[in-house]
Amino acid sequence: MAKLPSNFYKPLAIGAPDPLRELPVRLERMIHFLPPHVEKLRNRIPQLIDQVDVILGNLEDAIPVEAKEEARKGFIAMANEHDYGNTGLWVRINGLHSPWVLDDLTDIVAQAGNKLDVVMVPMVQGDWDIHYVDQLLAQLEARHKVEKPILIHAILETAEGVKNVEDIAAASPRMHGMSLGPADLAASRGMKTTRVGGGHPHYGVLADEISPDQARGFYQQDLWHYTIAKMVDACASNHIKAFYGPFGDFSDAQACEAQFRNSFLQGCAGAWTLHPNQIDIARRVFSPDVDEVKFAVRILAAMPDGAGAVMIDGKMQDDATWKQAKVIVDLAKMVAETDANLAKAYGF
Ligand code: GLV
Ligand code: MG
Repeated sequence: MAKLPSNFYKPLAIGAPDPLRELPVRLERMIHFLPPHVEKLRNRIPQLIDQVDVILGNLEDAIPVEAKEEARKGFIAMANEHDYGNTGLWVRINGLHSPWVLDDLTDIVAQAGNKLDVVMVPMVQGDWDIHYVDQLLAQLEARHKVEKPILIHAILETAEGVKNVEDIAAASPRMHGMSLGPADLAASRGMKTTRVGGGHPHYGVLADEISPDQARGFYQQDLWHYTIAKMVDACASNHIKAFYGPFGDFSDAQACEAQFRNSFLQGCAGAWTLHPNQIDIARRVFSPDVDEVKFAVRILAAMPDGAGAVMIDGKMQDDATWKQAKVIVDLAKMVAETDANLAKAYGF
């Protein structure tokens, strides 16, 4: 049973801020993961703020059990020590079944609620998980006088979550978006892989034999195509954002770039960067290509009212390609605001 439409945008606690009706328009090409208990890495935050679109303090997987509390305290400290400006500040809390998550949420909202943009919730199984976090955040926002609603970002990383992805996307006006979590999802589905995202050399299509003396081609396929497409449709139809998640092989920049690019072309807004060498890859991939932008600008210029049909370089353009061009140009304009070199290359 869905909520009554008239109740959907009401705050869930007396004194909590009004839920947003539109997502804030922000560039979120890379969500950079940081383990907040490591002081040496926290010290790099001032440089990171200028380098990345989102800084995320990770409290969940990869943080040792004995460091969970220190990581939470480290996150609160890093939230309060810096002015993040236009750079997003997110936290990945522990799973809702874990012994740490209640303190993660209560301590962080109490002590850093006005600095926090987004809470990333792992292992989301269905809309009930979002409703729980939604209600708790509203109570905490009210108690601690948080001025703007903290948004929720779900990780899509269980078979049940994928089954319920549309309900998750539509669960609350607090929903910011979703990331694919390929490692946990692979395990949950019983996929036979040991990688964090990316392809597998044995997942592909073998071409038919054409003649006995000609080798048969084998073409590797994208293991994540179905899930990304399903996630993108669930997100786009609810006006929230889809993201590719982590790519674990830091030594293979080319494969990382290829995986990020597939997700970008399919509709994702960004990806996680777990290692500093992935930041430039994400920036390159999730900022639209210069030639594509220039072509898109020509489409918009040729059809000022967005209707009709024209030919450009032998290619048919109509109302629909005008909309495609607008997606690219709108994103390019946002990128251009933060990147003078790209602004020049795009010709803005
Ligand atoms: C991310 O959390 C993953 O499981 O891939
Ligand atoms: Mg995971």
